[in-house]
Amino acid sequence: MSQMGGGQVMVMNVQSKREHGRKAQMGNIAAAKAVADTIRTTLGPRSMLKMIIDAMGGIVITNDGNAILREVDVSHPAAKSMIELSRAQDEEVGDGTTSVIVLTGEVLHCALPFMQKHMHPTVVIRGFTEALKAAVEECAAVSIGVDRADHAAMKQLLTSCVGTKFSDRFSSTVVELAMGAVETVATTKRDGGQEVDIKRYAKVEKIPGGEVEDCRVLKGVMINKDITHPRMRRKIKNPRILLLDCSLEYKKGESQANIEMSREEDWELLLRAEEEWIEKTCNAIIKHKPDLVITEKGVGDLTQHFFVKAGITCLRRLRKTDNNRVARSCGATIVHRVEEIKEADIGTKCGLYEVKKIGDEYFSFIVDCEAPKACTILLRGGSRDVLNEIERNLHDAMNVARNVYVDPRIVPGGGATEMAVSRALLNRAKTIDSVLQWPYKQIAVALEVVPRTLAQNCGANVIRVVTNLRAKHAEDSPQVKTWGINGETGKMIDMKELGIWEPLAVKVQTLKTAVEAACLLLRVDDIVSAQRQKSSQGRLAKPGEGGGPMDEHGIGGDV
Ligand SMILES: Nc1ncnc2c1ncn2[C@@H]1O[C@H](COP(=O)(O)OP(=O)(O)OP(=O)(O)O)[C@@H](O)[C@H]1O
Ligand SMILES: [Mg+2]
Repeated sequence: MSQMGGGQVMVMNVQSKREHGRKAQMGNIAAAKAVADTIRTTLGPRSMLKMIIDAMGGIVITNDGNAILREVDVSHPAAKSMIELSRAQDEEVGDGTTSVIVLTGEVLHCALPFMQKHMHPTVVIRGFTEALKAAVEECAAVSIGVDRADHAAMKQLLTSCVGTKFSDRFSSTVVELAMGAVETVATTKRDGGQEVDIKRYAKVEKIPGGEVEDCRVLKGVMINKDITHPRMRRKIKNPRILLLDCSLEYKKGESQANIEMSREEDWELLLRAEEEWIEKTCNAIIKHKPDLVITEKGVGDLTQHFFVKAGITCLRRLRKTDNNRVARSCGATIVHRVEEIKEADIGTKCGLYEVKKIGDEYFSFIVDCEAPKACTILLRGGSRDVLNEIERNLHDAMNVARNVYVDPRIVPGGGATEMAVSRALLNRAKTIDSVLQWPYKQIAVALEVVPRTLAQNCGANVIRVVTNLRAKHAEDSPQVKTWGINGETGKMIDMKELGIWEPLAVKVQTLKTAVEAACLLLRVDDIVSAQRQKSSQGRLAKPGEGGGPMDEHGIGGDV
């Protein structure tokens, strides 16, 4: 709306909700803090779990930041963007999804006094950005190198990551699984770097039942498929594997064609044409003597008959992604046209093909591969909830292993890195003589939230421990940089002693995501809702409408 001359000109729909200036900024900060406060208790080794009822009515029990926020239903736009953050962190590095939210909330909280004093957001943001640059440099300065071939060191690193999770009890199993999987799928790129594509090549299959100790990384892949014909072989040693992505059924015409026949022979002719096509296709395959044929499309009855006669086992309707994994693990190439099969396309590196029945279902195992570059991780355990949580923890552990493979530098955990960086920022702030130094210093203050929360979550005397820690770091010697909080006891301790380390990549990404997101939210000075008002139900986003703090900042609702 704007005022022009005498009359009022309506620019925007009067129905649309709008909030300006400071009110919008305050609202955003409060909403972000509300999200941060909800998951604050899930940080660290003494963290609590959250039980969430998802949209479908199922329950999720977890303490993984991203998994929690993925399920909750929020309505404030700033809260929504916080949730995006933890997703981004999860995509990028896989761990630190709780830390990033807690830190963003704190950075925004630290920006609050400036907003109240009418400092312009751009100035605050400039100070924050400068501080972020310095913080990233300082993180690299406290990092140390780690040898990825050193199993014990890798194991300790992963243990400290899994140690904050529910599967703490089975941490050695989860760590073994994560290491096995990452080692299997790691390949060296042409430029000498490491490529570890867990998402594509390491698949987790959960089968309820059995013991957690039965979990393992297969030297190959497992697929939830049975053979198509009962007389095919169920166990083959050293099979020759042919992978196809074409159909082995006789294709009907593209458009619905009707054929009218007046003579009986024509009908036979038609059937023979079909048979001949199938026979030709099968012969093209049988010529290469495969033991196992897997296709992504269908396989007709007649084709199966020919295969059984030739002693070939066949699986059909495999997913593209599964087929890619089979190809990587047995050294085959997926062929699109049967006429184009070459000897080199056949996979021969698999040691054993076997169909096994677990529970009520049949599973095909393509295992004992030599140098498989893809794998299936088989998870067994009591109930589906336990399995789901183990899968999420495994996901974190695998990502940590991957990050270290790609960039073998680690930093001390337990809030030590944050404290060291905070101290360094305070020192550096002295050299800045403009007004920027105030926001710069606030980032240093905000970083303390990590040790503080860790202490809080294990019931320590927060103020005393954090003050002691601050005093320790004020000694400014290289030895004190690894001092942090022991998350189990709440005491101050040297992380070298406790052995809690985290990949540098995770820490840097956490800092960057948190500060950048906070800056983005601070820059907002107007919230306009373009959503149509739904008549009776209050389910739609209504930024800034009154109500209690929870309503306003939108946690809860019909979770
Ligand atoms: N034994 C420990 N003592 C002290 N601090 C620890 C210990 N183990 C882990 N930490 C610290 O806990 C923090 C990680 O907590 P947590 O794993 O719960 O959250 P996250 O990694 O941020 O998020 P998520 O794992 O849910 O994606 C890190 O700062 C890490 O240094
Ligand atoms: Mg973690």
